[in-house]
Order: sequence, then structure tokens, then C-alpha cells
Amino acid sequence: MTNADFERIVDTSDEWIVSRTGIKERRIADEGIASSDLAVAACEKALEASGCSREEIDLLIVGTVTPDYRLPSCACVVQEKMGLPNAAAFDVVAACTGFINGLSIANSYIASGQAKKILVVGVEKLSSIANYKDRNTCVLFGDGAGAAVVAGDDTGRGVLSTFMRSDGNMRELLWIKAGGSMHAFSEEYAASGEDKVLMNGSEVFKVAVKEMGNAARHVMKDAGVDQSDISLVVPHQANIRIIEALARRLKVDLDKVYMNISKYGNTSAASVPIALDEAYREGRIKEGDHIVMVAFGGGLIWGSALVKW
Ligand code: UT7
Repeated sequence: MTNADFERIVDTSDEWIVSRTGIKERRIADEGIASSDLAVAACEKALEASGCSREEIDLLIVGTVTPDYRLPSCACVVQEKMGLPNAAAFDVVAACTGFINGLSIANSYIASGQAKKILVVGVEKLSSIANYKDRNTCVLFGDGAGAAVVAGDDTGRGVLSTFMRSDGNMRELLWIKAGGSMHAFSEEYAASGEDKVLMNGSEVFKVAVKEMGNAARHVMKDAGVDQSDISLVVPHQANIRIIEALARRLKVDLDKVYMNISKYGNTSAASVPIALDEAYREGRIKEGDHIVMVAFGGGLIWGSALVKW
């Protein structure tokens, strides 16, 4: 869906969207395609890239706020569609930090010996929860999925540090009011758009810049890796201005910060793994590189991971 498509449905312009967000296009899944289908496509590629078999996967973690159903988890549906006979499966509801929180959990499971090979997925069909009458939010979101196989070895490479934080006091800055156990779905809520994403963009923006900066610094300090030794920052793709402000805060050159927001918009939990995958396939990540992933989202919630590739 291009900015021109949005010009036809809400009062907006390509100029506003590009200058305020950096977004030019987003991918929108067809009707009848659920988050699990997007996740399966990403998982297939991750398994292929890793050479790992379906039988070897002992845990599947899916970061998403757009599961196929309210019950069961998206992970259980993905497990069935993928055919992972030996895996436990659960969702992580951590909005845009879903992949990073999943990676952090995977790292702990492997370090503690509770699992050996873990599929971590970030997936969203945000088009299912976007309000296409609200120009403040609908132009931002896209659908997508990214996945990684996480496994332990003794090379000294891998996840060096992760960091997770949240502050539920700010939950109403980015939320869906209706449809849960607090406010059951109703026609009234649907008419007011309160069954879809509501966001105070400018307030979220400020916290995002500050806390993503803090989170990125935290993992570098924890792992004892200097900012000058970071090869690439892979940030959540919510807004190009947030990414640029983050780079300034971290004193990292923009050419060391991966950006693909113009093509995908904000894909929430899928954003970091899609960016990581594209960066890798473009040759921007090499063995031994220090990579910082950092994200921020509804909760409010934020987190980071430092990986030696
Ligand atoms: O995914 C994780 C969390 N999410 C984020 O990190 C998103 C953070 N926030 C943002 O990226 C930005 O705040 C937005 C892109 C959402 C908005 O940009 P902004 O520069 O903060 O704009 P604003 O909300 O302060 O709105 C400025 C003006 C308003 O008009 P008035 O009230 O000044 O007349 C809005 O109504 O821009 C207007 N506006 C639009 N105009 C044209 C808002 N959306 C649009 C639009 N097209 N699509």
C-alpha cells in the first residue's frame, strides 16, 4: 500500500507521510491470510538458512499482538502449520519489542540448558487492528514477519547481553481499549474506533527516543563493548526521525544504522527481525560483528540485545 493509496482514503499527503515518518510503502496481507501464515513463511526461511530440522526445534516463541485467535496462542497455530513435533510453543505479547523479548527468553532457555534450538519469530498483521479512518495511525503500519533460529555453541559468538523494561503507567499512550476482559467488544466501541489501535504519537515519540538510547547503552555497557566497536544498530522501524534521533543520542553515524522503514512502515514485532534479515542478506553483517538491536512499543515497553554475529 503506497502513500498515494492513503491519499485516497484519509486526509493526508505523500509529502506529510515521507517528511514526518520516512514511510513510502507498506505490505498488507490479503484477507484470509493470518499472522500464522506470515510467521510460517519466515520460519521456513530461517530453518533453511540455519540447516536445522523441524524435529530439532524444542521451543517456538512468537512475538505478536495480532495472533490469529484470542485463544490459542499464535505459536500453537504456527507449530501445527510448520510441523514441529518436539516443540513447546508460546506467544510473547510485547508489542514492538516482541522479537527482542523472545530472543532474551531464548538466550536464557539455552543458557540454562532447558532448550537447545529455538525458533524466535516476530510477526504482525497490523492491518487487522489499524483504523483506516484515523490518519494519525493508519499510515504508519504494515504487515510482516521475521524469524531466527537460536542455538548455543562454544565459539564465544551469540547473544552477549539483553535488556528488557516496561512501564505500564503509560499504557494508554498506545493501546487498544476494547475487545479484552476490561472492555468487551461492542458495536459502540467499533463505531468509535476504540477496538483499533489508539496512539498519542508525540508523547510516544519522546519516550521512544530516550528509552531506546538508554536500552542500547545498557547492553553495550553490560557486555563491555564500546560504542565504537558496534558494526550495526538494527532499530525498530517506527519513524525515521526516531531512528535519526537515536543515532544522534548514541553518537553513531547513520551509515551504521539499518533502515528499511520506507518499504515496510512499522511492522511492530516483525520490524527488528525483518531489518536484521535484510541487513544480513545485503552483506552488512559479517561473522564477528557486534550488532545492537533495540526496540520500543506499546506497554510502554522497550528492550535491546547485543549480539556477536
Ligand atoms: O511502534 C512503536 C511506537 N510508536 C512510535 O514510536 C510512533 C511514535 N510517534 C511518531 O512516529 C509520530 O509522533 C507520528 C508520526 C505518529 C506523528 O508525527 P508528529 O510529528 O508527532 O505529528 P503530531 O502527532 O504532532 O501531529 C502534527 C499534525 C497534526 O495536525 P494539527 O493538530 O497540528 O493541525 C496532525 O493532525 O499532523 C497531523 N497529522 C497528519 N497530517 C497529514 C497526523 N497524521 C497525519 C497524516 N497526514 N497522516
